[in-house]
Amino acid sequence: MNIIFMGPPGAGKGTQAQTIVDEFQIPHISTGDAFRLAIKEGTPLGVEAQKYMDQGLLVPDEITIGIVRDRLQLADCQKGFLLDGFPRTISQAEALDGIVESMGKQITHVINLNVDRGLLLARLTGRRVCKSCGATYHVMFNPPAAENVCDKCSGPLIQRSDDTEEKVGTRLDEYTNKTAPLLNYYEAKGTLRQVNGEQDIDVVGKQICSILRGQA
Ligand code: AP5
Ligand code: MG
Ligand code: ZN
Repeated sequence: MNIIFMGPPGAGKGTQAQTIVDEFQIPHISTGDAFRLAIKEGTPLGVEAQKYMDQGLLVPDEITIGIVRDRLQLADCQKGFLLDGFPRTISQAEALDGIVESMGKQITHVINLNVDRGLLLARLTGRRVCKSCGATYHVMFNPPAAENVCDKCSGPLIQRSDDTEEKVGTRLDEYTNKTAPLLNYYEAKGTLRQVNGEQDIDVVGKQICSILRGQA
């Protein structure tokens, strides 16, 4: 299974990825997570990516495509992979087609999580992530058992620096202008499946699993 998760910022891509990679034992490749790790480690990639992420803008295609190309070469992707937040532009999608073709594979499922724009701001400003393991929570919709403590590893929960109201507005505009057109791209290829991302987290997860098992 070679899967792409699409959807606007806050749609639940990262949340659902946690379930799917556990269930199907495939690597979770999030370009956003890769950039955040590079920023934390202070690498040249991180310095460059931060200029864009801090403004809520997309990182340029040539940087982003290189990261995914390198990651997909690693041996663990042979058994399948889940791309979260990539591709986000038509150029990235075209480059990905070339990369998977050179691996002798194809994208098998594109899952789009649909969530109304009005809900996304509340989801993003209330999001908390574990500083140690990256697990995702929400202060109201998916709270940890103990406030600000990760259920999985007891690490501290923090807020992402791009989860402010102002940056969320820019991120949503970037999504509308550059990423939403990709839905037509995958619709035309016949790989696109729509899932209502406004349902409870476990309901969304079950629907995605059914699609991936060919039962829906
Ligand atoms: P990235 O990290 O990918 O951010 P994003 O796309 O903005 O998406 P999010 O991670 O914010 O949302 P999500 O869909 O994962 O939602 P989550 O599951 O956390 O990218 C960050 C930045 O990196 C970009 O802005 C850009 O600068 C750069 N970048 C990354 N990829 C790039 C690319 N390909 N090209 C160029 N630049 C790139 O859920 C959100 C909240 O809602 C959580 O609190 C969660 O608990 C809650 N929640 C989830 N599901 C539900 C539900 N069903 N009901 C109630 N609450 C829910
Ligand atoms: Mg995410
Ligand atoms: Zn944790």
